[in-house]
Amino acid sequence: MPFWYGADYNAEQWPAETHEEDVRLMLEANVTVATVAVFAWSLLEPSDGEFEFEWLDRIIDRLYEAGIGVDLATSTATPPNWLSLQHPDTLLVDEWGHVLSPGSRQHVNPSSATYRRYATRLVRRLAERYGQHPGVVAWHVGNEFGNDNPRDYGDESAAVFRQWLEGKYGSIEVLNARWGTTFWSQRYRSFEEVLPPRAAPTFHNPAHLLDYERFSSDALLSAYRAEADVLRELSPGVPVTTNFMGFFRPADYWAWSREVDFISDDSYPDPAVEDSWMDAAMQRDLMRSLGGGRPWVLMEQSTSAVNWRPLNAPKRPGQMRALSYQAVARGADGIMFFQWRQSQRGGEKFHSAMVPAAGTDSRIWREVVELGRELRELEPSVLGTKTESSGVAIVIDWDSWWSAEQPSTPARLDYIDAVRSWHHALLNLGVTTDFVHVDSDLSAYDLVVAPMLFVADESTLARFDSFVERGGTLLVTALTGVTDADAAFHRGGPLGSLAATLGVRVEEYAPHDPTESVSVEGGVTFSTRHWAEVVHAEGAEVLATFRGGLADGGPALTRKRNRTGSAWYLAADATEAAARAVLNLILNTAPNPVIHTDPALPSGVEEVRRGTLTFLISHRPDTVRVARSGYDVLADTAVDEIVLEAHGVAILAAQSNTPD
Ligand code: GAL
Repeated sequence: MPFWYGADYNAEQWPAETHEEDVRLMLEANVTVATVAVFAWSLLEPSDGEFEFEWLDRIIDRLYEAGIGVDLATSTATPPNWLSLQHPDTLLVDEWGHVLSPGSRQHVNPSSATYRRYATRLVRRLAERYGQHPGVVAWHVGNEFGNDNPRDYGDESAAVFRQWLEGKYGSIEVLNARWGTTFWSQRYRSFEEVLPPRAAPTFHNPAHLLDYERFSSDALLSAYRAEADVLRELSPGVPVTTNFMGFFRPADYWAWSREVDFISDDSYPDPAVEDSWMDAAMQRDLMRSLGGGRPWVLMEQSTSAVNWRPLNAPKRPGQMRALSYQAVARGADGIMFFQWRQSQRGGEKFHSAMVPAAGTDSRIWREVVELGRELRELEPSVLGTKTESSGVAIVIDWDSWWSAEQPSTPARLDYIDAVRSWHHALLNLGVTTDFVHVDSDLSAYDLVVAPMLFVADESTLARFDSFVERGGTLLVTALTGVTDADAAFHRGGPLGSLAATLGVRVEEYAPHDPTESVSVEGGVTFSTRHWAEVVHAEGAEVLATFRGGLADGGPALTRKRNRTGSAWYLAADATEAAARAVLNLILNTAPNPVIHTDPALPSGVEEVRRGTLTFLISHRPDTVRVARSGYDVLADTAVDEIVLEAHGVAILAAQSNTPD
């Protein structure tokens, strides 16, 4: 595959004359791939069983002739009106039993057998027709699975959920025991009695809720798989993907990542939020990690404003380019946009595009053309190379996300916010962080951070223990190991067997009102936001203690050394600044993990190594100087110092590749 540069190409919204201009402009912008037919079901199958492919033949052939690859969508994300009206059983049902209407998009229950039958019939027809077409470079299944239909609570989903439960538990007795249904008189006599967790007077059984999240992610994945299976049968060798949405709570992307041939992602950082580039960096790091370090594709971003925020700020000059290079630096082999040509009608007409409504005499178009030219030049030195790992990983776990944010916990918790503090602190230290799954092999890492790993079963805890045994540095933060995978407490208290690894015992959680002053003091000093714990050091050294609140005077930060490794526990919540202070302490205390940091990097500037290149990217609105020397590939000159203008980018190679 070449480096992907292009967009969703909704050609069906435009007359044929526009298509010719589209191809001409695509070539001018160095577009290499177009994602075609994302929302075209009602044109491909205008009535039940009547298919019309000729218009799509023309688009695909024309792009192919022009040397532009087609990422062919299966068009199943939004069923046509006739299908919804003819088969209301396909419609999405919310937790109150409301049936959601067609008229927007994704109004479908992914578990509906009728929907699956129609969707796979369409996919079969598409794959038969285009599966061997030389212009089709990839299949794009549906679109953003679960974005508008994350969970369905209707009767058909209830039946599929019961089968899922039966597959998991085998018998209703086992389910009763593991869900703990003696609590509040919730015992079931058979699977037939189990319902989705629909609107109820107060909170549901936590194990029930957790299983429903798992089931709903699986239900979406199974709808994806139904289509992917057809494509693999009829179009062997053509890679199959679907576009992820970063940290998307309803879909456990670790499971999904095993079923796509390459990872692709949609990303829309808010240009108006000064540090949204940091969340974007975190999202890119997740995508690279989901693919095990292999290149991925940024499948959608905007050239400028979106249309779905309360205020849709445009990207500032250079900002789209900086965010694109951020993705490239962090492993992307493709930069794509939603969408090619700004719509004239419909609900997304205010959304920016590669070809703006204002036409090509525009800032956006000039930036699009310039980026396409640069990427084409960079392709030989970037394509297929890997982002360099710094030896640091953060554990990310959807079970923990789902559980920590349930009702009926010690406080309103925000899982991703906890993860964010640690990722952003590392980012500010100049460290490129990977994400790992709870079952991942940790041996490639020197430092592993487990923030709020709320759900951790014994096998995970044992894996952490052997990581420390083998000399790794482990940092575990508050609210880790609260429950096992059945949403039940570990016998003996929080952390289960990890308590011994860490040398601590958590006696009691002590969240406090944010206005109450509770701080951590000692080796690091910071104010907690709302979280503290009453902890006893049982074999660990105490490096900082709580001041104020119930835990006053007790351990807040501990370390248990283990020959070359060490296990740290932080019993408080942490802002990015607090997390940075803790990380600095870890990195400066022997035995310390050997991590290359670069605290001297100006704030708002990131530095990432990929292959033989070093990317320096500024997300600042002003000019900044960075002390680096090398060969500046974009400027085609040797430099002793880098001057980055607003949203400027420099890419350094050790030396010039071009012969003089
Ligand atoms: C994505 C979606 C696109 C478009 C875009 C607008 O969620 O996949 O079809 O709607 O957002 O930002």
